[in-house]
Parts: sequence; C-alpha cells; structure tokens
Amino acid sequence: MNYKVPFVDPAKNYLLLKNELDAVYKDVMSKGDLVYRHQLKSFEENLARFVGTKYAVGLNSGYDALHLSLRAAGIGEGDEVLVPAHTFVASCSAIVNVGATAVLVDVGKDFNMDASKIEEAISQKTKGIMPVHLNGYMADMPAIMKIAAKHHLIVVEDACQSLGSTINGKGAGAWGLTGCFSFYPFKILGGYGDGGAITTNDETVALFARRMRYNGEDRDTGEYHGHGFTCILDNLQAAFLDLKLKHLSEWINIRKSIAEKYRKEFSDIPDLLLPHYSNSGFDHIYQNYVVRSKQGNDFSEYLKKNGVEVLTQFRKPYYKYESLKLMDRGFPETEQLSKEVCSLPMNVEITAEQIQHVIETVRGFYKK
Ligand SMILES: Cc1ncc(COP(=O)(O)O)c(C=O)c1O
Repeated sequence: MNYKVPFVDPAKNYLLLKNELDAVYKDVMSKGDLVYRHQLKSFEENLARFVGTKYAVGLNSGYDALHLSLRAAGIGEGDEVLVPAHTFVASCSAIVNVGATAVLVDVGKDFNMDASKIEEAISQKTKGIMPVHLNGYMADMPAIMKIAAKHHLIVVEDACQSLGSTINGKGAGAWGLTGCFSFYPFKILGGYGDGGAITTNDETVALFARRMRYNGEDRDTGEYHGHGFTCILDNLQAAFLDLKLKHLSEWINIRKSIAEKYRKEFSDIPDLLLPHYSNSGFDHIYQNYVVRSKQGNDFSEYLKKNGVEVLTQFRKPYYKYESLKLMDRGFPETEQLSKEVCSLPMNVEITAEQIQHVIETVRGFYKK
C-alpha cells in the first residue's frame, strides 16, 4: 500500500544530505578505502566522544555488539542473564547464543525493565543484567547499577534504540561494562545496511572486541588471540555514519519537536497512553513514538486504512514463540502493552502536512 504518511522514507531521507553523502561515497570509492581505514577510526573516536566513553569499536550489527560484549564478560554455559520480556528478540538471542540462560523480567510503564522486579529474578547463577533502553528512553540506570554492584553483576546495555539519550547528562552506553548500538538503516543513526558498535571504558574489552571482529586476529601484530568472527563495520558505512553523526543532535531536536506536537494534540484522549514520563533527569530522544491504545488493533488498522503507516511491535511477545524455548514466568505489563502498542511515524524527513494528517487521523478515530 502507498501510504500518505509512510513510517519512514529512506529515499527522502537521502535527499536531506545527498551532496555530502555523494562526496563521501566518491572519496571512499576513488581511494579504495574499503576495510579498516581511517574513516572507521574517525567514526569510532567521534562515537566514543558523543557517548562519553573512552573507546568505541565498530561492528557489523547491534546483535554482534551484544554477543561480543557477553563473550568479553566471560558469560557462557551455566550462567544466567536478566533481560526484559518486552524487547527485540536479538537482545535475548545474544544471551542464548553464548550458551547462557536468558531470565526474563517484566517492564514498567516506560516499556523498560522494571528495576523493582530485578532482585526477585536473581539466582546463584546470575552473572549479568542486560537493560534495554527501548524507543529512545533509558532504563532506570541509577537503580540498575546499584543492584548490579550489590550482587556483583556485569551490566551490558542494549542501547540499540537510544543513541543520544541521557540520564542527568550521562549517555546511554556509558553506564555498563559496554553499551551496544545498532546502525540498522531505520535507527536514529542509520547506515545503508547493517552496522553496530560497542562503547566501553574498559581497554581490555575494547581490545577483545577489536580482535574478535576480525577472526581473532590482532591487526597490528598478525597474531591470533582466539576463535573469532567476521563482524567488522565496513569502512564505507563508517564514513557515512561519521558524516551523519555530525547531524544527530539537530535531528534529535526535530524528533523532540514532533513528539511535543503529538503530546499537545493527543493528551486529552483518555484511551491513549502517551510516551511522556516524569522521571526527572531522563531525556527522551524519540527513536520511536509508541502510544498505547486501549482499542489495540482497531486503532492501528484504522490508521493504516487512512494512509498512516504504523508499526505494532510487538503484538506477540517473543517468549510466546515455542521454538525459542524461553520460560514465561508471567509478565502482566508486557502482556497488556503488547495488545496496545502502536508506533506512530517519527522521522526527520516527515513534512508538517504529514504530521497534521497523523494528528487528524488519530483524532478522527477517537471522534467516531
Ligand atoms: C533493542 C534492540 N536490540 C538489538 C537490536 C539488534 O540490532 P541489529 O539489527 O543491528 O543487529 C535492535 C535492532 O534492531 C534493537 O532494536
């Protein structure tokens, strides 16, 4: 279907920076700078500075960042790691794929791991916590770091949806042993294919990730330091991302102004729960603008029928898929919100007329 307001519009997004992107492409291609060149190093330095860590290591995906972080922390068979019941399945898969057990924890009204439910999920086998900063809003890191310190647990932040988000000025990805980022095309900092990164203050972890992304090889000495993977961030993607990173703060402001328009227009609708929270010091950068509608699918289908493309991630919680073999310990908030979630168009290429159309369509549904 051809939507009047698509969820995202990558071709239009390209036009915003066409001249600069084309110049980067020509530069990289004409010099043949394809793998492990200065563009990657430059992006890593700028990303680390932006997040507020000493190091950043460019990888092939957000999943690789999560997976290598767990390996760097020495997590494996016999260990348990806590992860939210409401997240993209990749967070949980990274835990399962290192041989550890994922122990799910319910979320709160902000869609993030409910810190008050963490301690009841901790056992003798628990080695780590993976809070996910969903939609651009951070999990309660001051509380989570306190619990982790008390129980001697490693924290790996899944910040794939929250580059640029902060709590009291401290960035997502700067709290735990590592922060994990995704540059999948529709992320707030999106490349033109898969991409990801680890941020960390730990030199050993950075070195481990640098070697493991290149089949275990240390590029400087040629020595192998273990069986690794092929998951280095491509140089061309790094060059594009480095350029786009310069615009990120400005783009976050655009997202915040769209969120503010939605808030003003929808806050008098009692059946619609909006993603605006009162945690002081927490900054929302609106990777996604996810509302909860009491009318569930009737609401999301009405929007789609009227030209507004919306996503309903995730109508079926991932732990309900039998093939994933996960333990459903009962997650009432996740169960409820999964029936209600609806992600409205939120991107920097949207026009004022398109925002108006979203507003009128949502209001139209509730006037019916
Ligand atoms: C919360 C979360 N975790 C992990 C990932 C995995 O990132 P990627 O698709 O780059 O592997 C994503 C991205 O889709 C995500 O949104």
